[in-house]
Amino acid sequence: MIKQTGTLISHLVCEGCGRTYDPRKIYTLCTHETCRYILSARYNLSEAKVKKEDLRTQPANMWRYKEFLPVYNEECIVTLGEGYTPLLKVSNLPTEGTQVFIKDESGNPTGSFKARGLSAAVSKAKELGIRKLVIPTAGNAGGALAAYAAKAGMQTLVYMPRQTPEAFKKEAKLLGAGVIEIDGNISDCGKLVQQKSANEDWFDVSTLKEPYRLEGKKTMGYEIAEQLNWEVPDIILYPTGGGTGLLGIWKAFSELEELGWIGARRPRMVAVQSDCCNGIQLAFQQAETESVYKDSGATIANGLRVPHPYANRSILKVIRESNGNAVSVSDGDILTALRELASREGLLVAPEGAALWHAFKSLKRSGWIREGEKVLLLNTGSGYKYFDNIPV
Ligand SMILES: Cc1ncc(COP(=O)(O)O)c(C=O)c1O
Ligand SMILES: [Zn+2]
Repeated sequence: MIKQTGTLISHLVCEGCGRTYDPRKIYTLCTHETCRYILSARYNLSEAKVKKEDLRTQPANMWRYKEFLPVYNEECIVTLGEGYTPLLKVSNLPTEGTQVFIKDESGNPTGSFKARGLSAAVSKAKELGIRKLVIPTAGNAGGALAAYAAKAGMQTLVYMPRQTPEAFKKEAKLLGAGVIEIDGNISDCGKLVQQKSANEDWFDVSTLKEPYRLEGKKTMGYEIAEQLNWEVPDIILYPTGGGTGLLGIWKAFSELEELGWIGARRPRMVAVQSDCCNGIQLAFQQAETESVYKDSGATIANGLRVPHPYANRSILKVIRESNGNAVSVSDGDILTALRELASREGLLVAPEGAALWHAFKSLKRSGWIREGEKVLLLNTGSGYKYFDNIPV
C-alpha cells in the first residue's frame, strides 16, 4: 500500500497567464506558446488539518512541512536531512541599533541551500518516473542535484562554466554526475541544457523552468517564521542569482497567512546582486518591470553571475510589493564582508552570503534600514568550496 504524505497540492498555475496544470503530469514551463512563463504549485490550504503546534513532533528537516510540499507518495521523498538550519544572531560585529540574524544554510547536504530545491525536485521527478536529469549550474546546484540523484538512483548531467572553482567540479563528479565544462556563463550553459533536453530524454531541472525547486526553497520562509515564533522580520536580504529563494520565501509567507499561522505583515525584501550582473538592481532603479541581460565578467560569488534571471518580472514585482530594495556589491566589498563574518562571528560564509553583510551595512548607513528593525540575512552556502578564489 502506498503511504501518502498528505500533501494538499491541488494544481500548478502559470504566473504569467494564469492557466492551470495537473501536478500528476510532467511539466516545465507554461505550455502556451506566447507565454512560456513559470509554473507555481497551489495547495488547498483551507482544508489543512495540521496545526503549527503539530510541528513539534515533525522531523528536523524541511519535510516537516510535507503537507505543503508537492510529493504524494512518502516513499518518493528523497532526503539527505536538508533544512531546519540554525538562525544565528550577529553578536560581535556592530549592528547599530538593529538586530541582525543570519539563517545559516551552510550546514545543508553539499553545503548550500540548493539542497532544499533539489530534494524537492528530485523527489517529484522520482514520483513522475523521470530517470535522467540535466542542469546548468554556477556550482552549488550541480553538486546538490548530483547528491539527490545518487540517492534516488538517477543519472545526472551538469553543465558548469569552466572558470568555476575546482571543488564544485570534483564534488559533482564524486557524487556520480557527468560534468561538462563550458566556455561561457550560466546563460550559455542554460542554452546547451535546453538543446540537450529538447533532443534527448534528459529532463531539464533549470531553476524555475522546473516547478518544484521553488517548493523546496520556500521552506526557508516557513522556517524563518517558525524560528521567529511566527513573526516575520522587518527586512530580508537575499543573494539573488535566479531569484528562486526570494520568490520561494515570499510564497511561503502568503501560504502561511492563508493557513492563519502568520498575519498580513510582510518583510521588505531586498535582492542583493553582484556588480557584474546587476540587471535587477538597474531595472528597479529605473522603474522598469523587466530587466535586461547584463554580464560584465566574473565574480567570486559564482552563484550571483546570472545575467538575466528567467523570473526577473516576478522578482521585481516582489521587491516592489514588499516596499523592498535592490543592491549590488563589488567583489572587493564581498571579500571584506566575508573576512569580517569569519573573524568576528566565526562563520565561513559563501561569498554570496557575504555580499549581504556589505549590503546591510550600506543600507543602514543610508538610513533605509532603521534603528530597532529586525533584519534577516540568508547565508546561502558554505565558503569552503570557494577557497581557490579567496586570497588569505
Ligand atoms: C551560495 C549561493 N547563493 C545564492 C545563489 C543564487 O540563488 P538563486 O538562483 O536562488 O537566486 C546561488 C546559486 O548558485 C548560490 O550557489
Ligand atoms: Zn502562461
